[in-house]
Amino acid sequence: MKFRAALFSLALLAGIGLAVPKAHAEDEKAKNLKVLQDTGKKLQKGMKEFTKGLGVKCNACHVKGKFDSDEIKAKLAGREFFKTTLGEKDAAKRDAALKELLKALKLEAAKDNSKVWAGVDMLEKK
Ligand code: HEC
Repeated sequence: MKFRAALFSLALLAGIGLAVPKAHAEDEKAKNLKVLQDTGKKLQKGMKEFTKGLGVKCNACHVKGKFDSDEIKAKLAGREFFKTTLGEKDAAKRDAALKELLKALKLEAAKDNSKVWAGVDMLEKK
């Protein structure tokens, strides 16, 4: 039984060891924000909801593992989009900006517009 308990603790430790790097990545400080505020988990949540709403993956705008990089053109369109839509109440202006972003992403339409705006509304301007 003692041996089993030891094995169990080892497995637990290994599990913790694996969990730590991931948690760290989520908590990492943003390095290249020009429009948005680094609100940590809230920034992540907003990005996720916005991305789901568009019906794309993070890599539509981000180089894998290098979220700060501006290499992908669609990210620049995304930055313009955030600049014009954050805090904007005029729905016509918001929709026009979304149309531009969809064009840059080569999409006909967003998967779920209300999710796009729910995500945007979780983000904060600098
Ligand atoms: C339509 C484009 C687009 C998509 C899709 C997108 N992002 Fe972003 N993301 C941006 C833009 C634009 C910025 C920079 C905003 C600024 O300059 O303030 C950014 C910044 C970030 C940052 C901060 C990086 C840094 O160090 O500066 C993180 C983290 C991030 N996004 C995570 C995600 C995750 C996770 C997903 C997928 C769930 C995702 N993004 C999907 C456009 C996008």
